[in-house]
Amino acid sequence: MTSKSPVWHPFTQHATTAEIIPIARGSGACLETTDENLIVDAISSWWVITHGHCHPQIVEAIREQAERLDQVIFAGFTHEPAERLARGLIELTPEHLTRVFFSDSGSTAVEVALKMALGYWRNIGSPRKRIVALEHAYHGDTIGTMSAGARGVFNAAYEPLLFDVSRLPFPAEDSGQETLDALEAACRTDDVAALIVEPLILGAGGMLMWRPGTLAEMRQICDQYGVLLIADEVMTGWGRTGTMFACEQAAIVPDILCLSKGITGGNLPLAVTLCADPIFEAHYSEDRSKTFFHSSSYTANPLACAAALANLEIWRSEPVLERVEALCDMQERRIARLGTENGFINVRRMGTISAFDIDVHDEGYLSEVGPVLQHECLARGVLLRPLGNTVYVMPPYCITPDQLDAVYSALNHGVDRVLSGKRS
Ligand SMILES: Cc1ncc(COP(=O)(O)O)c(C=O)c1O
Repeated sequence: MTSKSPVWHPFTQHATTAEIIPIARGSGACLETTDENLIVDAISSWWVITHGHCHPQIVEAIREQAERLDQVIFAGFTHEPAERLARGLIELTPEHLTRVFFSDSGSTAVEVALKMALGYWRNIGSPRKRIVALEHAYHGDTIGTMSAGARGVFNAAYEPLLFDVSRLPFPAEDSGQETLDALEAACRTDDVAALIVEPLILGAGGMLMWRPGTLAEMRQICDQYGVLLIADEVMTGWGRTGTMFACEQAAIVPDILCLSKGITGGNLPLAVTLCADPIFEAHYSEDRSKTFFHSSSYTANPLACAAALANLEIWRSEPVLERVEALCDMQERRIARLGTENGFINVRRMGTISAFDIDVHDEGYLSEVGPVLQHECLARGVLLRPLGNTVYVMPPYCITPDQLDAVYSALNHGVDRVLSGKRS
Protein backbone atom coordinates (compact mmCIF):
# COMPACT_ATOMS: atom_id res chain seq x y z
CA MET A 1 0.00 0.00 0.00
CA THR A 2 2.70 2.47 1.06
CA SER A 3 4.85 2.11 -2.01
CA LYS A 4 1.87 2.87 -4.24
CA SER A 5 0.78 5.88 -2.23
CA PRO A 6 1.61 9.28 -3.74
CA VAL A 7 1.77 10.83 -0.26
CA TRP A 8 5.07 12.36 0.85
CA HIS A 9 5.04 12.26 4.67
CA PRO A 10 6.60 14.89 6.97
CA PHE A 11 9.91 14.23 8.70
CA THR A 12 9.84 10.76 7.14
CA GLN A 13 12.66 9.06 5.29
CA HIS A 14 10.62 6.91 2.93
CA ALA A 15 13.64 4.83 1.95
CA THR A 16 14.05 3.49 5.47
CA THR A 17 10.48 3.57 6.79
CA ALA A 18 9.16 0.06 6.42
CA GLU A 19 5.52 0.86 6.89
CA ILE A 20 3.19 3.84 7.03
CA ILE A 21 0.38 2.89 9.39
CA PRO A 22 -3.17 3.66 8.31
CA ILE A 23 -5.33 4.99 11.15
CA ALA A 24 -9.10 4.78 11.00
CA ARG A 25 -10.24 6.25 14.32
CA GLY A 26 -9.18 8.05 17.45
CA SER A 27 -10.80 7.99 20.86
CA GLY A 28 -9.47 9.13 24.25
CA ALA A 29 -5.76 8.32 24.46
CA CYS A 30 -5.96 5.73 21.68
CA LEU A 31 -5.73 5.48 17.93
CA GLU A 32 -7.20 2.56 16.02
CA THR A 33 -5.61 1.17 12.88
CA THR A 34 -7.67 0.16 9.85
CA ASP A 35 -7.12 -3.46 10.88
CA GLU A 36 -8.57 -2.66 14.31
CA ASN A 37 -5.43 -2.62 16.43
CA LEU A 38 -5.39 -0.11 19.29
CA ILE A 39 -2.35 2.10 19.78
CA VAL A 40 -1.81 4.24 22.89
CA ASP A 41 -0.94 7.71 21.63
CA ALA A 42 1.86 8.50 24.08
CA ILE A 43 2.95 11.62 22.17
CA SER A 44 -0.51 13.18 21.77
CA SER A 45 -0.12 12.94 17.98
CA TRP A 46 2.77 15.42 17.83
CA TRP A 47 1.84 17.16 21.05
CA VAL A 48 -1.53 18.50 19.94
CA ILE A 49 -4.15 16.31 21.62
CA THR A 50 -4.83 17.45 25.18
CA HIS A 51 -8.24 16.12 26.28
CA GLY A 52 -8.16 13.00 24.10
CA HIS A 53 -9.00 12.18 20.49
CA CYS A 54 -12.46 13.15 19.25
CA HIS A 55 -13.63 14.84 22.44
CA PRO A 56 -17.43 14.84 21.91
CA GLN A 57 -17.87 18.52 22.81
CA ILE A 58 -15.26 19.62 20.29
CA VAL A 59 -16.60 17.31 17.60
CA GLU A 60 -20.11 18.66 18.15
CA ALA A 61 -18.91 22.28 18.04
CA ILE A 62 -17.19 21.66 14.69
CA ARG A 63 -20.29 19.92 13.31
CA GLU A 64 -22.60 22.76 14.34
CA GLN A 65 -20.28 25.41 12.94
CA ALA A 66 -19.89 23.52 9.66
CA GLU A 67 -23.61 23.89 9.06
CA ARG A 68 -23.49 27.66 9.56
CA LEU A 69 -20.31 29.14 8.13
CA ASP A 70 -17.36 27.21 6.72
CA GLN A 71 -14.90 29.90 5.75
CA VAL A 72 -14.78 33.63 5.10
CA ILE A 73 -11.99 36.00 4.14
CA PHE A 74 -10.70 37.53 7.38
CA ALA A 75 -9.36 40.80 5.94
CA GLY A 76 -12.19 43.29 6.39
CA PHE A 77 -14.62 40.58 7.61
CA THR A 78 -15.14 38.84 10.90
CA HIS A 79 -17.34 36.21 12.49
CA GLU A 80 -18.69 35.31 15.90
CA PRO A 81 -16.43 32.33 16.71
CA ALA A 82 -13.28 34.41 16.06
CA GLU A 83 -14.57 37.37 18.09
CA ARG A 84 -15.60 35.18 21.03
CA LEU A 85 -12.38 33.23 20.88
CA ALA A 86 -10.22 36.36 20.83
CA ARG A 87 -12.05 37.68 23.92
CA GLY A 88 -11.76 34.29 25.62
CA LEU A 89 -8.00 34.19 24.99
CA ILE A 90 -7.53 37.74 26.25
CA GLU A 91 -9.39 36.79 29.42
CA LEU A 92 -7.29 33.66 29.89
CA THR A 93 -3.89 35.28 29.34
CA PRO A 94 -2.30 38.13 31.35
CA GLU A 95 -3.81 41.61 31.10
CA HIS A 96 -0.82 42.99 29.24
CA LEU A 97 -1.72 40.96 26.11
CA THR A 98 -4.53 42.80 24.35
CA ARG A 99 -4.51 41.81 20.67
CA VAL A 100 -4.94 38.45 18.96
CA PHE A 101 -3.63 37.68 15.46
CA PHE A 102 -4.86 34.42 13.97
CA SER A 103 -2.94 31.96 11.81
CA ASP A 104 -2.92 28.22 11.33
CA SER A 105 0.18 26.49 12.65
CA GLY A 106 2.85 26.85 15.28
CA SER A 107 5.37 27.92 12.64
CA THR A 108 3.13 30.69 11.34
CA ALA A 109 2.39 31.86 14.90
CA VAL A 110 6.13 32.28 15.45
CA GLU A 111 6.74 33.75 11.99
CA VAL A 112 4.04 36.33 12.78
CA ALA A 113 5.69 37.05 16.15
CA LEU A 114 9.05 37.74 14.48
CA LYS A 115 7.40 39.98 11.88
CA MET A 116 5.42 41.84 14.56
CA ALA A 117 8.63 42.50 16.49
CA LEU A 118 10.51 43.85 13.47
CA GLY A 119 7.46 45.79 12.27
CA TYR A 120 7.14 47.37 15.70
CA TRP A 121 10.69 48.73 15.69
CA ARG A 122 10.49 49.93 12.10
CA ASN A 123 7.14 51.64 12.57
CA ILE A 124 8.21 53.53 15.70
CA GLY A 125 11.15 54.86 13.71
CA SER A 126 14.04 53.07 15.39
CA PRO A 127 14.56 49.98 13.29
CA ARG A 128 16.13 47.08 15.13
CA LYS A 129 16.54 43.78 13.40
CA ARG A 130 18.49 41.32 15.54
CA ILE A 131 16.75 38.32 17.05
CA VAL A 132 18.21 36.53 20.07
CA ALA A 133 17.40 32.86 20.62
CA LEU A 134 18.47 29.92 22.74
CA GLU A 135 20.94 27.22 21.76
CA HIS A 136 19.06 24.01 20.76
CA ALA A 137 15.86 25.99 20.07
CA TYR A 138 13.18 24.80 17.68
CA HIS A 139 10.46 27.20 16.54
CA GLY A 140 9.15 25.66 13.32
CA ASP A 141 10.08 24.77 9.76
CA THR A 142 9.57 27.96 7.76
CA ILE A 143 12.64 29.96 6.77
CA GLY A 144 12.13 32.54 9.53
CA THR A 145 11.43 30.03 12.28
CA MET A 146 14.30 27.79 11.16
CA SER A 147 16.55 30.84 11.39
CA ALA A 148 15.54 31.34 15.03
CA GLY A 149 16.01 27.61 15.63
CA ALA A 150 19.23 25.71 16.11
CA ARG A 151 21.22 24.77 13.03
CA GLY A 152 21.53 21.06 12.35
CA VAL A 153 20.69 18.19 10.11
CA PHE A 154 17.10 19.46 9.73
CA ASN A 155 18.02 22.71 8.09
CA ALA A 156 21.53 22.23 6.68
CA ALA A 157 20.23 22.33 3.08
CA TYR A 158 18.56 25.68 3.64
CA GLU A 159 21.40 27.28 5.59
CA PRO A 160 22.21 29.82 2.82
CA LEU A 161 18.73 31.30 3.23
CA LEU A 162 18.64 31.46 7.02
CA PHE A 163 19.26 34.80 8.71
CA ASP A 164 21.78 35.18 11.46
CA VAL A 165 20.59 35.38 15.09
CA SER A 166 22.44 35.85 18.37
CA ARG A 167 22.54 32.51 20.12
CA LEU A 168 22.52 32.19 23.92
CA PRO A 169 24.04 29.13 25.60
CA PHE A 170 21.35 26.81 26.97
CA PRO A 171 20.87 27.66 30.68
CA ALA A 172 22.77 25.30 32.97
CA GLU A 173 20.75 23.24 35.45
CA ASP A 174 22.00 24.99 38.60
CA SER A 175 22.33 28.52 37.26
CA GLY A 176 21.51 30.31 34.06
CA GLN A 177 24.10 33.01 34.73
CA GLU A 178 26.14 32.37 31.59
CA THR A 179 22.97 32.62 29.52
CA LEU A 180 21.90 35.81 31.25
CA ASP A 181 25.33 37.38 30.78
CA ALA A 182 25.22 36.51 27.07
CA LEU A 183 21.73 38.01 26.79
CA GLU A 184 22.86 41.20 28.45
CA ALA A 185 25.92 41.43 26.19
CA ALA A 186 23.70 41.00 23.12
CA CYS A 187 21.20 43.59 24.35
CA ARG A 188 23.95 46.18 24.81
CA THR A 189 24.46 46.27 21.03
CA ASP A 190 21.29 48.38 20.53
CA ASP A 191 20.14 46.36 17.54
CA VAL A 192 18.20 43.65 19.40
CA ALA A 193 14.53 43.61 18.42
CA ALA A 194 13.45 40.56 20.40
CA LEU A 195 14.43 37.57 22.45
CA ILE A 196 12.50 34.43 21.57
CA VAL A 197 12.31 31.49 23.97
CA GLU A 198 10.41 28.28 24.49
CA PRO A 199 9.71 28.68 28.21
CA LEU A 200 11.01 26.03 30.65
CA ILE A 201 11.44 23.17 28.19
CA LEU A 202 12.86 22.97 24.69
CA GLY A 203 10.73 20.29 23.05
CA ALA A 204 12.11 19.30 19.67
CA GLY A 205 15.52 20.53 20.83
CA GLY A 206 15.72 17.41 23.02
CA MET A 207 13.21 17.91 25.88
CA LEU A 208 15.77 20.09 27.64
CA MET A 209 14.44 21.64 30.83
CA TRP A 210 15.41 24.96 32.38
CA ARG A 211 14.49 26.98 35.46
CA PRO A 212 11.67 29.52 35.81
CA GLY A 213 14.08 31.81 37.70
CA THR A 214 16.24 32.18 34.58
CA LEU A 215 13.19 33.13 32.53
CA ALA A 216 12.20 35.72 35.15
CA GLU A 217 15.67 37.25 34.95
CA MET A 218 15.54 37.25 31.14
CA ARG A 219 12.34 39.29 31.41
CA GLN A 220 14.15 41.82 33.61
CA ILE A 221 17.04 42.17 31.17
CA CYS A 222 14.64 42.62 28.26
CA ASP A 223 12.83 45.34 30.23
CA GLN A 224 16.09 47.05 31.06
CA TYR A 225 17.11 47.27 27.39
CA GLY A 226 13.63 47.70 25.87
CA VAL A 227 13.90 44.36 24.07
CA LEU A 228 10.67 42.52 23.22
CA LEU A 229 10.22 39.08 24.75
CA ILE A 230 8.52 36.46 22.57
CA ALA A 231 7.28 33.33 24.34
CA ASP A 232 6.80 30.40 21.99
CA GLU A 233 4.26 28.36 23.98
CA VAL A 234 3.22 26.35 20.93
CA MET A 235 4.21 23.14 22.73
CA THR A 236 4.28 24.26 26.38
CA GLY A 237 0.83 25.90 26.39
CA TRP A 238 -2.45 24.33 27.47
CA GLY A 239 -1.25 22.54 30.59
CA ARG A 240 1.74 20.57 29.30
CA THR A 241 4.16 21.93 31.89
CA GLY A 242 1.71 21.59 34.79
CA THR A 243 0.28 25.12 34.56
CA MET A 244 -1.94 26.50 31.82
CA PHE A 245 1.05 28.38 30.37
CA ALA A 246 4.70 27.81 31.26
CA CYS A 247 5.34 31.56 31.70
CA GLU A 248 3.08 31.50 34.78
CA GLN A 249 5.74 29.52 36.64
CA ALA A 250 8.18 32.38 36.21
CA ALA A 251 5.46 34.95 36.97
CA ILE A 252 6.30 36.84 33.79
CA VAL A 253 4.29 38.18 30.89
CA PRO A 254 5.84 38.14 27.41
CA ASP A 255 5.26 40.98 24.95
CA ILE A 256 4.28 38.44 22.31
CA LEU A 257 2.82 35.00 22.99
CA CYS A 258 2.53 32.21 20.38
CA LEU A 259 -0.07 29.49 20.89
CA SER A 260 -1.19 26.60 18.71
CA LYS A 261 -1.36 22.76 19.07
CA GLY A 262 -3.66 22.36 22.15
CA ILE A 263 -5.62 25.52 21.34
CA THR A 264 -8.29 23.39 19.65
CA GLY A 265 -7.68 20.42 21.95
CA GLY A 266 -5.71 19.20 18.94
CA ASN A 267 -8.70 18.58 16.66
CA LEU A 268 -8.15 21.24 13.99
CA PRO A 269 -5.21 23.40 12.95
CA LEU A 270 -5.23 26.90 14.44
CA ALA A 271 -2.71 29.29 15.93
CA VAL A 272 -2.68 32.71 17.52
CA THR A 273 -0.06 35.32 18.23
CA LEU A 274 -1.09 37.58 21.10
CA CYS A 275 0.67 40.86 21.64
CA ALA A 276 0.85 43.84 23.96
CA ASP A 277 -0.82 47.10 23.00
CA PRO A 278 2.28 49.07 21.91
CA ILE A 279 2.96 46.51 19.19
CA PHE A 280 -0.53 46.89 17.74
CA GLU A 281 -0.37 50.67 18.20
CA ALA A 282 2.88 50.84 16.22
CA HIS A 283 1.03 49.35 13.24
CA TYR A 284 -2.11 51.51 13.74
CA SER A 285 -1.71 54.50 11.43
CA GLU A 286 -3.26 56.62 8.69
CA ASP A 287 -0.11 55.67 6.82
CA ARG A 288 -1.07 52.43 5.07
CA SER A 289 2.55 51.40 4.64
CA LYS A 290 2.54 50.67 8.40
CA THR A 291 -0.08 47.92 7.99
CA PHE A 292 0.85 44.51 9.39
CA PHE A 293 1.30 42.72 6.09
CA HIS A 294 0.63 39.10 6.96
CA SER A 295 -2.17 36.68 6.22
CA SER A 296 -2.93 33.19 5.08
CA SER A 297 -6.07 32.14 3.23
CA TYR A 298 -7.49 30.22 6.18
CA THR A 299 -6.78 32.86 8.84
CA ALA A 300 -9.29 32.35 11.71
CA ASN A 301 -11.15 29.55 9.96
CA PRO A 302 -14.60 29.42 11.66
CA LEU A 303 -14.52 25.64 12.20
CA ALA A 304 -11.14 25.81 13.89
CA CYS A 305 -12.31 28.78 16.01
CA ALA A 306 -15.41 26.80 17.04
CA ALA A 307 -13.16 23.89 18.06
CA ALA A 308 -11.00 26.29 20.09
CA LEU A 309 -14.06 27.79 21.78
CA ALA A 310 -15.15 24.27 22.76
CA ASN A 311 -11.65 23.71 24.11
CA LEU A 312 -11.90 26.86 26.26
CA GLU A 313 -15.27 25.64 27.54
CA ILE A 314 -13.76 22.26 28.46
CA TRP A 315 -11.04 24.04 30.44
CA ARG A 316 -13.78 26.07 32.21
CA SER A 317 -16.22 23.25 32.91
CA GLU A 318 -14.08 20.14 33.39
CA PRO A 319 -11.39 19.60 36.05
CA VAL A 320 -8.60 19.70 33.45
CA LEU A 321 -5.92 21.07 35.76
CA GLU A 322 -6.71 18.30 38.25
CA ARG A 323 -6.21 15.78 35.45
CA VAL A 324 -2.94 17.48 34.59
CA GLU A 325 -1.80 17.24 38.22
CA ALA A 326 -2.79 13.58 38.37
CA LEU A 327 -0.81 12.92 35.18
CA CYS A 328 2.21 14.73 36.65
CA ASP A 329 2.06 12.36 39.65
CA MET A 330 1.55 9.28 37.49
CA GLN A 331 4.55 10.24 35.38
CA GLU A 332 6.71 10.94 38.43
CA ARG A 333 5.97 7.54 39.93
CA ARG A 334 6.81 5.74 36.71
CA ILE A 335 10.05 7.57 35.92
CA ALA A 336 11.22 6.90 39.49
CA ARG A 337 11.39 3.23 38.53
CA LEU A 338 13.56 3.72 35.43
CA GLY A 339 17.04 2.64 36.35
CA THR A 340 20.34 3.73 34.83
CA GLU A 341 21.29 0.05 34.96
CA ASN A 342 18.54 -0.50 32.39
CA GLY A 343 19.98 2.07 30.01
CA PHE A 344 17.90 5.11 31.02
CA ILE A 345 19.95 8.21 31.81
CA ASN A 346 19.15 11.89 32.46
CA VAL A 347 15.65 10.97 33.58
CA ARG A 348 13.65 14.19 33.90
CA ARG A 349 10.14 15.61 34.02
CA MET A 350 8.51 18.95 33.35
CA GLY A 351 4.83 18.87 34.30
CA THR A 352 3.08 16.17 32.28
CA ILE A 353 6.13 15.50 30.10
CA SER A 354 8.71 12.91 31.04
CA ALA A 355 11.95 12.44 29.15
CA PHE A 356 15.15 10.41 29.32
CA ASP A 357 18.11 9.55 27.19
CA ILE A 358 19.13 6.06 26.18
CA ASP A 359 22.71 5.32 27.04
CA VAL A 360 24.23 4.63 23.61
CA HIS A 361 27.32 5.78 21.74
CA ASP A 362 25.59 7.26 18.70
CA GLU A 363 23.86 10.18 20.42
CA GLY A 364 21.85 12.81 18.58
CA TYR A 365 18.84 12.99 16.30
CA LEU A 366 20.19 10.47 13.79
CA SER A 367 20.92 7.87 16.47
CA GLU A 368 19.85 4.41 15.28
CA VAL A 369 18.13 3.86 18.60
CA GLY A 370 15.20 6.14 17.79
CA PRO A 371 13.58 4.28 14.88
CA VAL A 372 14.33 0.85 16.37
CA LEU A 373 12.77 1.76 19.71
CA GLN A 374 9.80 3.33 17.96
CA HIS A 375 9.28 0.09 16.04
CA GLU A 376 9.58 -2.07 19.18
CA CYS A 377 7.05 0.06 21.07
CA LEU A 378 4.62 0.11 18.16
CA ALA A 379 4.73 -3.67 18.04
CA ARG A 380 3.44 -3.50 21.65
CA GLY A 381 0.67 -1.03 20.81
CA VAL A 382 2.39 2.19 21.90
CA LEU A 383 3.13 5.24 19.78
CA LEU A 384 6.38 6.96 20.72
CA ARG A 385 8.63 9.02 18.50
CA PRO A 386 12.07 9.38 20.06
CA LEU A 387 14.23 12.36 19.16
CA GLY A 388 17.27 10.24 18.37
CA ASN A 389 18.37 8.71 21.65
CA THR A 390 16.11 11.05 23.63
CA VAL A 391 12.77 9.51 24.48
CA TYR A 392 9.80 11.35 25.90
CA VAL A 393 6.26 10.54 26.97
CA MET A 394 3.73 13.34 26.42
CA PRO A 395 0.28 11.78 26.53
CA PRO A 396 -3.20 13.32 26.42
CA TYR A 397 -4.46 14.20 29.92
CA CYS A 398 -7.15 11.51 29.78
CA ILE A 399 -4.65 8.64 29.66
CA THR A 400 -5.51 5.99 32.27
CA PRO A 401 -2.98 4.52 34.75
CA ASP A 402 -3.20 1.19 32.90
CA GLN A 403 -2.52 2.81 29.56
CA LEU A 404 0.46 4.68 31.01
CA ASP A 405 1.74 1.43 32.51
CA ALA A 406 1.49 -0.10 29.04
CA VAL A 407 3.61 2.77 27.68
CA TYR A 408 6.38 2.25 30.25
CA SER A 409 6.25 -1.49 29.92
CA ALA A 410 6.68 -1.17 26.13
CA LEU A 411 9.52 1.26 26.73
CA ASN A 412 11.33 -1.01 29.17
CA HIS A 413 10.94 -3.91 26.84
CA GLY A 414 11.97 -1.86 23.80
CA VAL A 415 15.08 -0.40 25.46
CA ASP A 416 16.05 -3.84 26.64
CA ARG A 417 15.75 -5.22 23.12
CA VAL A 418 17.60 -2.28 21.62
CA LEU A 419 20.49 -2.50 24.06
CA SER A 420 20.79 -6.26 23.96
CA GLY A 421 20.66 -6.08 20.16
CA LYS A 422 23.46 -3.55 20.25
CA ARG A 423 25.50 -5.73 22.59
CA SER A 424 25.10 -8.91 20.54
C1 LIG B 1 7.95 25.20 20.31
C2 LIG B 1 7.43 24.98 18.93
N1 LIG B 1 7.27 26.04 18.13
C3 LIG B 1 6.78 25.92 16.89
C4 LIG B 1 6.43 24.69 16.39
C5 LIG B 1 5.90 24.56 15.00
O1 LIG B 1 4.57 24.20 15.03
P1 LIG B 1 3.88 23.57 13.72
O2 LIG B 1 4.44 22.22 13.55
O3 LIG B 1 2.42 23.56 14.07
O4 LIG B 1 4.20 24.47 12.60
C6 LIG B 1 6.57 23.55 17.19
C7 LIG B 1 6.23 22.22 16.68
O5 LIG B 1 6.44 21.21 17.26
C8 LIG B 1 7.09 23.71 18.50
O6 LIG B 1 7.27 22.66 19.30
